Amino acid sequence: MSDLPIRVGVLLSGRGSNFGALLEATRSGKSSTDIVIAISDNEGAGGLDIARDNSITAQAYPRSSYASKADHEAQISNALEQAGVELICLAGYMRILSADFVERWQNRILNIHPSLLPEFPGLNTHERALEAKAEQHGCTVHLVDAGMDTGPILAQSSLMVHQTDTSETLAQRVLKMEHRLYPKVLHDFCDRLIAEKRNGVSV
Ligand code: GRF
Repeated sequence: MSDLPIRVGVLLSGRGSNFGALLEATRSGKSSTDIVIAISDNEGAGGLDIARDNSITAQAYPRSSYASKADHEAQISNALEQAGVELICLAGYMRILSADFVERWQNRILNIHPSLLPEFPGLNTHERALEAKAEQHGCTVHLVDAGMDTGPILAQSSLMVHQTDTSETLAQRVLKMEHRLYPKVLHDFCDRLIAEKRNGVSV
C-alpha cells in the first residue's frame, strides 16, 4: 500500500507550454503527481529547457540516432522505466507511438489534443475547424491507443468559434483551455491510480 505521488514522465517535441502548466499545477501544494522526467525526440525542444530550469531530468533521443522506430521507442521506454515512471503524459509529442509501445504502457499514456475529438484528429486542427465552419471547438484529453488521437476520451473543454476568429486566435484561446484542462485531468487520474493501489486493484 502506498500513497506516494504517481511518478509521471512527459514526452514532448516542442515549446512545452502544456508541460509547464502540468509542472506548475503539480508543484503547488500537496499533489498526487510527481513529474520526474521530460524526454524529447528533439534536442532543441523548449520543453527540455523548462525541465532543466525546474531541476527535472531532461533527456533527448533524436529518432535519427536509432536504426528503427522500435529501437528508438525501446530507448525511450527504458529511460522511462529507469526513472520509475508509472504514467506518461504526451505534451506536444509529434510522433505516433507504435502498438507495441502503447501495449507496454497500456492505459498509462495520456495525451492532450487541440480539438473536440473525434472531430479533427491529426494536425492543423484550428485551420480545419475554421474551414469546416465548426460552431464549437476546443481540446480533449484522452488515453492513447494505437490509433491517431483515437483513444478513450477522459475530458473536453469547448468554446464557441467567433466569426472573427483566425487560426491564430483560436490556437491561443484553445491553448489557454488546454493549460487548465490537462492538469485537472492528470490530477484526477493520479488520484484514481492511488486509490486503486490502496485498494489493491490494478487497471
Ligand atoms: C498543443 O496544442 C497540444 O494540444 C498538441 O501539441 C501542442 C503542444 O504545445 N498536442 P505545447 O508544446 O504544449 O506548447
